[in-house]
Amino acid sequence: MTQTNAADIFHVEDHHTSGVYSKQPIIFVRGYGSTLWDIDGNAYLDCTSGHGAANLGHAHPRITEAVSLQAGKLITLCETYYNDQRAALLAKITSLIPELDRAFFCNSGTESVEAAIKFARLSTKRSQIVAAMRGFHGRTYGSLSATYNKKYRESFEPLVPGFSHVPFNSVEALENAVTEETAAVLLEPVQGEGGVYPASHAYLEAARRICTERGALLIIDEVQTGFGRTGKLFAVQHIGIVPDLLCAAKSLAGGLPMGVTLIGPSVKDLAPGVHGSTFGGNPLACAAVLAVLQVIEDEDLPGQAAAKGTYLIEKLCEIRSPLIREVRGLGLMVGIELRQKVAPFLKLLQERRILTLNAGMTVIRLLPPLIIEYEQIDFLVTALADVLSSTTTRLRDDE
Ligand SMILES: Cc1ncc(COP(=O)(O)O)c(C=O)c1O
Repeated sequence: MTQTNAADIFHVEDHHTSGVYSKQPIIFVRGYGSTLWDIDGNAYLDCTSGHGAANLGHAHPRITEAVSLQAGKLITLCETYYNDQRAALLAKITSLIPELDRAFFCNSGTESVEAAIKFARLSTKRSQIVAAMRGFHGRTYGSLSATYNKKYRESFEPLVPGFSHVPFNSVEALENAVTEETAAVLLEPVQGEGGVYPASHAYLEAARRICTERGALLIIDEVQTGFGRTGKLFAVQHIGIVPDLLCAAKSLAGGLPMGVTLIGPSVKDLAPGVHGSTFGGNPLACAAVLAVLQVIEDEDLPGQAAAKGTYLIEKLCEIRSPLIREVRGLGLMVGIELRQKVAPFLKLLQERRILTLNAGMTVIRLLPPLIIEYEQIDFLVTALADVLSSTTTRLRDDE
């Protein structure tokens, strides 16, 4: 039975959900572009893109069409059989970074990282994985072991052995940590959950060099940064390094669950049975990705993210609030670090019908759809300036 009134929906979700999410009391029923509508018809500007899964915005007509068409033909087919959509996608996705000419399909970001960790251990016959402090790679055991923040980890120990964490952006720390036992170094090009910290070019170049010199593989986690978000199709393309394994998911299939691990020539021994996924590479998700990649190209979404990201960061820097410690980011992946906790500001923005994310306690994270309009960016910046200045005034009055 479908629940149609708000009270029933809240009641059923509150009583029967697992409980692992902290929920906002809004019921969204429809989306288009950068807008979400709640059950009462109120429009919200979505600066979360479904946690980065809707880079193309909601209900993009070309994705809707591709998915509807494929749903009527063939939804599921394990990779043990061949398929036209999957073949077309494999040809396309392995042309994006030509050195990465094989792909493993799965269903989420965490799975794409799990695959990369397994492939690195299998291929190098080594066990150690070096990851970064503040890094986030997912919540299943392998990716959780690579994730740094103890809030995600501590209730689930013992985690997978062999993982260590080094300070992000320190070449020296990486030099010291990578040894003959290291299977892989695993890094985000911009740390997302950890607070929106871009890696320096020198750091990623050094990571590439150190891995090559010591026979370790470089895994780059582009789950949040991929598919145009930072102003290039992949963030590593700002620098020109090629990892051995690249993980992607989130907006890959326009919001359908889909992940991919792209695989370079140093990765060996991927024989039948060493890994797999029932849903991985299903024709429905493959058709969606094909449409997504075409839209990204036709609408130059990386170019849009670069231009709009620069505009957004400029506008944010013009807000002269003593509460702002720093504005940072790359493309349309933007963090505003405050001198105090951000939760009340997220709530105030939500009251003004703007949805935003946090990254830790003190960073407001903006991941708007790449098709966001300039007027919508202005609306967001004006609202943020307002809520910051009214709080500053209130704090002064309280003194
Ligand atoms: C960099 C990064 N890697 C991995 C993940 C995990 O992705 P998923 O939630 O699809 O498992 C995330 C999710 O936020 C992420 O930001």
